[in-house]
Amino acid sequence: MLKTIIIGSDHAGFSLKNKIKSYLESKNYEVFDAGTHTTESCDYPVIAKSVAQKIAQNAYEYGILVCGTGIGMSIAANKVKGVRAAVVSDTCSAKMSRLHNNSNILCLGERIVGEELAKDIVDIWLDSEFLGERHAKRVAMFE
Ligand code: RB5
Repeated sequence: MLKTIIIGSDHAGFSLKNKIKSYLESKNYEVFDAGTHTTESCDYPVIAKSVAQKIAQNAYEYGILVCGTGIGMSIAANKVKGVRAAVVSDTCSAKMSRLHNNSNILCLGERIVGEELAKDIVDIWLDSEFLGERHAKRVAMFE
């Protein structure tokens, strides 16, 4: 079954966010766009918080946040209880953040990764499942 996804960005991640959204829609995912909707400068913590709260409420299974580096989005998103946001710029980390850490938000930097790498990262992140077992005990300790 396809996963439900919420995506958001600030102005610095706006272009990559739109490309990822179109890419996922072309693969028949339903993607809710939490903004930003223009290239006007905006504050990434606002978008991070709104996406993170939706993930914490289980309104969507997975979140994707894009800013210039992915770092600010991840720091802000991880302030919300129940959120496990991972900044990723390679496919191995994307996979491991799901297998071992059960990440529920993927943070990308438009100034760090190109479009094709970002798509590969998103694919492997969505296709990788949490391994549970000993990792579940550790992930539970986050809370
Ligand atoms: C915006 O210039 C930039 O600071 C933001 O997109 C992000 O990279 C912060 O972590």
